[in-house]
Amino acid sequence: MAIIKVGKDDLKTRDSALLELREYFSGLEAAKGRQITFSVRTYGCQLNESDSEKLCGMLESMGLKEHEGESAADVTIFNTCAVRENAEDRLFGNLGIIKSDAKNDKDMIVAVCGCMTMVEKNVDKIRKSFPYVDLVFDPQHLHLFPVYLRDSIRRKKQLVNISADDYIVDDSLVPISRKRKFRALVPIMYGCNNFCTYCIVPYARGRERSRELSEIIDELQILADQGYKEVMLLGQNVNSYKGSNGEKFPDILKAASEIKGFSRIRFMSSHPKDVSDEIVEIMASSPNIEKHLHLPLQSGSDRILKLMNRPYDRSDYLKTVHYFRKLVPEGSLSTDIIVGFPGETEEDFKETLSIVKECAFDSAFTFQYSPRPGTKAASMEDQIPHDIVTERFGRLLELQNDLAHKSNLAKVGKTEEILIEGQSSTAPDILTGRTMSNHLVNFTIPDALKIPGKTSDDYEGMLCDVKFTGARPYSVDGEMVKLK
Ligand code: SAH
Ligand code: SF4
Ligand code: F3S
Repeated sequence: MAIIKVGKDDLKTRDSALLELREYFSGLEAAKGRQITFSVRTYGCQLNESDSEKLCGMLESMGLKEHEGESAADVTIFNTCAVRENAEDRLFGNLGIIKSDAKNDKDMIVAVCGCMTMVEKNVDKIRKSFPYVDLVFDPQHLHLFPVYLRDSIRRKKQLVNISADDYIVDDSLVPISRKRKFRALVPIMYGCNNFCTYCIVPYARGRERSRELSEIIDELQILADQGYKEVMLLGQNVNSYKGSNGEKFPDILKAASEIKGFSRIRFMSSHPKDVSDEIVEIMASSPNIEKHLHLPLQSGSDRILKLMNRPYDRSDYLKTVHYFRKLVPEGSLSTDIIVGFPGETEEDFKETLSIVKECAFDSAFTFQYSPRPGTKAASMEDQIPHDIVTERFGRLLELQNDLAHKSNLAKVGKTEEILIEGQSSTAPDILTGRTMSNHLVNFTIPDALKIPGKTSDDYEGMLCDVKFTGARPYSVDGEMVKLK
């Protein structure tokens, strides 16, 4: 399938729709005598988060404000994820909850977009069971959201707009409303060519396509000039990046690390097949590249890796891990693991436990295998019974929690630089932030270091040194010793 670049005509159509919507919503505002609001709910990965920031940007340029409070917003968009069944169930549950609001207010708009819309049976279910959903559109055409929204308002009947072109959009052409004032999410490639046998993503996100290096660097420079402290380079497999002139991921990392202003350059997810020694060497030598590698393993058994269509084996994976641990000893390593893939035996699972121990992951996302209709694995024989999956899952979790706790304990007594993310969700006078190795830290500020008149939230995006005083399974405790 050819990659289609967004053309000027598309943008003209979009901008005229934006103008029409501005007028429509300002009329609605006058009629209702109040601000018209939106809510974008995100279910998936950071790429979905990034798409949501674009949806918010477009909604704000229609004159809408983000909704606060319990009641329903005037425009609600569900940006969905199809990677596991429970993400899908959440959408249908929430569509059920919003039903009475949508029926009582004929002007209210409910839209569904994201990866679930690329799976036909989901769209059929929305058509049949959720007729009050006004609009369904696919993630490839996000930049045309204003056009679809205008059309759905005009026709007053459910509008479904799904097609599978492999579009690539220059981010600078879409308004973005960033969720965090210090962090910019920057997709550098979209889609996936790997077709791991369990995974829906290649069907939902299309084939791999990379943005131009020059476009990315221009965007990063603007973000640095705007004062963003942290940039997160994103892609389904970020390190499989291929520029049109043969540029590879290390070229982006190097160019990004030379831009002045960023304290932290992060990237995810890395596919193990494309982590070259050069990437690890650049991580080790660049002071502003985060010392954290997210390296999805999936299974420790060579037999299962083959069945999963993962193109590496245990020893390839371990080679990368050992090189990373040698060159970046202060760094952290995280992973994704699936338990209960079809045909997984107790022996296979023990291989997973043993590699997890050997890698000593600092953190891990562990998942119970969820069959995705349409993928190869869903129709494989020997699906593992639920009770065996949950029992194995429990053992893995216990081991990983212990490793994560040890990783946090190893920080106690040290002092490191933290990028402050804001107020902790559990206590108003505690701040939360991350180390350069992506360890989560909760810390207090002694009175002498408090800036008069500032609330906890005002510290978001600042750098400080924190001395670590204690460790929990998922975080480190500490006290600020210097605000920078
Ligand atoms: N592209 C990345 C991962 C993207 S999906 C990579 O391949 O490395 C994020 C994670 O979801 C995967 O790493 C996998 O662990 C998990 N996942 C994907 N499909 C799944 C399924 N059918 N059941 C359970 N977990 C799944
Ligand atoms: Fe899914 Fe595999 Fe692609 Fe990752 S590499 S997105 S797991 S198909
Ligand atoms: Fe989910 Fe789509 Fe991301 S399936 S994990 S939101 S790419």
